Amino acid sequence: MRNPIIAALDVPSVDQALKLAEQIAPAVGAFKIGGELFTAAGPDIVRRVRATGAAVFLDLKFHDIPNTVAKAVASAVALDVQMLTIHTSGGGEMMRAAEKSAQAAATALGLEVPLILGVTVLTSSNSETLAEIGCEADTEKQVSRLAQLAVKSGLRGLVCSPLELVALRAILPAHIQLVTPGIRTGAEKADDQKRTLSPREAIEAGASWLVVGRPIYAAENPRAAAEKIWESIS
Ligand code: C5P
Repeated sequence: MRNPIIAALDVPSVDQALKLAEQIAPAVGAFKIGGELFTAAGPDIVRRVRATGAAVFLDLKFHDIPNTVAKAVASAVALDVQMLTIHTSGGGEMMRAAEKSAQAAATALGLEVPLILGVTVLTSSNSETLAEIGCEADTEKQVSRLAQLAVKSGLRGLVCSPLELVALRAILPAHIQLVTPGIRTGAEKADDQKRTLSPREAIEAGASWLVVGRPIYAAENPRAAAEKIWESIS
């Protein structure tokens, strides 16, 4: 079994990110670089983390007109990332443009096509947030609707909350990869995550990949924390 742990490098500086990456690389399957680190450190941080041999998940959640998203995706492919995120609420045309661009850029550069993950309803949103922006559906319905639209538009993966795993597995084709944050081992506090599952529970519920931030990077010994999570699911 491949290691499904994606360690979130949610730290503000290049030095901290590289130190953490080098320390835990053998115990995880990939690293997630998000808005905080990317905006502070620029694309070079992606190249430097890739240089450790680790896979990179670039979590910048692109959402724009199809042409702009397609170009941003092509730039991400050129950085040789293995996964990246886009917002499914950008619509089918935007998602198709992203997928087409990833395939074309990867072929032109002789790289593997990265997995484009669709983000549905952010877990910070609830039905009031949806109503506020003019969406009448409740969050569960909206998540299913966007997930199905993503699959129809050619995406091969989605980001979802641990509590959406079972419902999504029931309606999506088996090849769809589900990436889930909100993972807590019980050894640490839940922080601001309100709906969590343990690593084993999430895998059993159908997760393909687990995004783990604080339970690894804020642990006294991040390498040991990552190894313990890996042992608990392998
Ligand atoms: O520290 P923690 O394990 O909570 O970090 C989870 C990571 O997953 C963070 O990078 C966070 O931004 C991301 N994430 C999340 N919930 C979502 C989507 C992304 O926690 N719904």
